[in-house]
Amino acid sequence: MAMETTLSILKPDAVRKNAIGQILARFEAAGLQIVAARLVHLSRREAEAFYAVHRERPFFKDMVDFMVSGPVFVQALYGEGAIARNRDLMGATDPKKAAPGTIRAEFADSIDANAVHGSDSAETARTEVAFFFPTLAIHRR
Ligand code: CMP
Repeated sequence: MAMETTLSILKPDAVRKNAIGQILARFEAAGLQIVAARLVHLSRREAEAFYAVHRERPFFKDMVDFMVSGPVFVQALYGEGAIARNRDLMGATDPKKAAPGTIRAEFADSIDANAVHGSDSAETARTEVAFFFPTLAIHRR
């Protein structure tokens, strides 16, 4: 399988729960390497830009409200099949549907407060990594 870099965000609920270390440990245990990371409190404008593909969706405003409600921890994960591997670790978007043992099953409270975000395709991963880590995106293209 190809070596990939994907973007992961620990959302405000996960940061508020003091769960950054526990979630990062899961990525590392699954063979994903954290190749860039930072804690950031997104402005509304940044959150809207990051989630621009969802602009027309009915949940957009609530999702943005939630994403700016506190700091998030953003990281780029690198490894074999990193995009799918990260999505497997996260579990389904809606925590009620997330398989037992996944990050969302363990840490998420609702579909907005769902602990983590992860890129969903190679193209999204490129755009999302570049959004937060432009230099890394150039080096790892
Ligand atoms: P995320 O993977 O960060 O991408 C968009 C986010 O919108 C998603 O996780 C959810 O937290 C949030 N969201 C809220 N309602 C929905 C919905 N009905 N479908 C998909 N995502 C939703």
